[in-house]
Amino acid sequence: MNYRHSFHAGNFADLVKHAGLLGLLRALAPRGPLTVVDTHAGAGLYDLDGDASRSKEAEAGVLRLMQADALPGPLAQLQAAVRALNPDGRTRWYPGSPRLVAAAPGVARYVGFELNPPVAEALTEALADFPMATAEAGDGYAAAPTVCQAPGLLLIDPPFERPDDYLRAVDCAAETRRLRPGVVVAIWTPLKDLETFDGFLRGLAKAGLADVLVVEARLRPLTNPMKMNGCTLTLIGAPATLEPELQAVTDWVVDTLGDPGGRARVWRP
Ligand SMILES: C[S@@+](CC[C@H](N)C(=O)[O-])C[C@H]1O[C@@H](n2cnc3c(N)ncnc32)[C@H](O)[C@@H]1O
Repeated sequence: MNYRHSFHAGNFADLVKHAGLLGLLRALAPRGPLTVVDTHAGAGLYDLDGDASRSKEAEAGVLRLMQADALPGPLAQLQAAVRALNPDGRTRWYPGSPRLVAAAPGVARYVGFELNPPVAEALTEALADFPMATAEAGDGYAAAPTVCQAPGLLLIDPPFERPDDYLRAVDCAAETRRLRPGVVVAIWTPLKDLETFDGFLRGLAKAGLADVLVVEARLRPLTNPMKMNGCTLTLIGAPATLEPELQAVTDWVVDTLGDPGGRARVWRP
């Protein structure tokens, strides 16, 4: 297990994922107290003075977000959450999905799984102020389907360092929707080349998963498949009313942080 999210915290892909997540939670809140399960929780809180200062990815991500105004709703919510963590005005701390979810209105229970023991320990610490939130050390793919409850949300956010991550993400989503049809699923993926992503969408269809919405932020043309050229947040069972807001989020990310030739699109396969 080599992947360390601390190098990537606050990058453009986190902005798409975390703003999408906040928008989704706000849209789902009227359904009742929500249970949110996070298969790949990470550390929960990131010090941008650490590993992230070496990768410089947050400079081209959250630091640009913090300078912006007139943002689409979910990005403004994310900006406010980051501000709340950094009361002295300097952006040093960035929240991961566990802290963002645990602090979101309407969430009654959060369960985050983390396989890497030191990261799982950091997660427990990051959630200490949230009694409704639980950190579980273990494999999120295996455990999540039986822990999920409706109304609620399953977030699947793997590192994609293993060849079976796409397959396991599809299986986990399908098993969850089989056991708990009312649970909305959000799966983050990188976008390197189109064939890999198309294969993932074919996998969702083959598993019988319908009502799919793809939030796609392509920061540059997909000419180099070795690079993360963009990312997607693929939603299953999300309210259609969210689409304009999610389009505005990806438009902002691609227009502000992307190269010429980028593309922002919210679409249904
Ligand atoms: C992309 S990071 C998660 C980031 C987090 N969701 C966020 O948005 O703040 C992926 C995490 O999954 C962990 N991981 C890898 N395989 C796992 C598995 N099968 N179950 C649970 N965690 C896993 C890695 O150690 C890593 O910390």
